[in-house]
Amino acid sequence: MRNKIVAGNWKMNNNSSETAELLTQLISKIPETTAEVMVAPTFVNLAQAVKQLSTSSMEVVAQNMHFAENGAYTGEISANMLQSIGIKTVILGHSERRAYFGEDDALLAKKVDAALKANMRVIFCFGEELQDRKSDNHFKVVETQLKNGLFHIDKGQWKQIVLAYEPVWAIGTGETASPEQAQEMHAFIRKTIAGAYDQETAEMVTILYGGSVKPGNANEIFSKPDVDGGLIGGAALAADDFAAIVAAI
Ligand code: PGA
Repeated sequence: MRNKIVAGNWKMNNNSSETAELLTQLISKIPETTAEVMVAPTFVNLAQAVKQLSTSSMEVVAQNMHFAENGAYTGEISANMLQSIGIKTVILGHSERRAYFGEDDALLAKKVDAALKANMRVIFCFGEELQDRKSDNHFKVVETQLKNGLFHIDKGQWKQIVLAYEPVWAIGTGETASPEQAQEMHAFIRKTIAGAYDQETAEMVTILYGGSVKPGNANEIFSKPDVDGGLIGGAALAADDFAAIVAAI
C-alpha cells in the first residue's frame, strides 16, 4: 500500500502569530487519519511550527532549499539548516519556483541530490502549462521534467521521493484538472517510472495531485486509483477547508 499524503503549501502567507493561530485551529480540526498530514509554512516560521506540532502527528515541511551545504549564497537555506530544526521533508520544483525564480530541471536535479544526500524526503513538483496541454504536449513535458529532474537517482532512493503533479493552469486559478485528467496523467507518470526503473518502484511511489483542490472536489479526485493525495495551496490557509480535504483522503 502506498502512503497517502495531504500537504498544505502555505506559500508566502502567514506571519508568526498567524502561523501559530492556524496551527492551533488545525490541531483541533484535523480528523484522525492514517494518511500523513503535512504543513509547509514559510522559512522563518518553521522552527516555531515544529515546536507547536511536537505532540501532533502533523509534519512540518519546507517549501524550498538550496543545493549547497553552506557558503556564500546570500538569502538561501541549506538542508542541514532545515534538519537542525527538525525538518525532514522539502518541497522542490514548485511551479512558482520554476516560473518566478528561474529554477530549471538542471538546478532541481542538484537540489534533489542535495536533499537525498542529507537523507531528507523530497516532494518533487512538476506539471505542464496551459499551452502544453492545448498543443497536446502535456505528456511529453511531464516526461521531460521527470527525466531531467529526477531520473538520475538510484532505484533505492525512490523511497525518499513523493511526486506532486500540478498542472500550472490549475494552480491558484480555481480551475481543477478533472478527476479523469488527473488519473490519466498519474497513470502515465507511473508507467514512465516503470519504464525507466521497474514496476515495483512505480507502484510504490506516492503521487499527489495539486491545483485548486477544495473540499468540494477532493473526494472525487482522491477516489482515483493512481491519486494518492494532494498538495494544497489556497485551501490550506483555511483550517476548515484543509480539515475537510484531509477528511476526504
Ligand atoms: P492551489 O495551489 O491549491 O492554490 O491551486 C496548489 C499548489 O500551488 O501547490
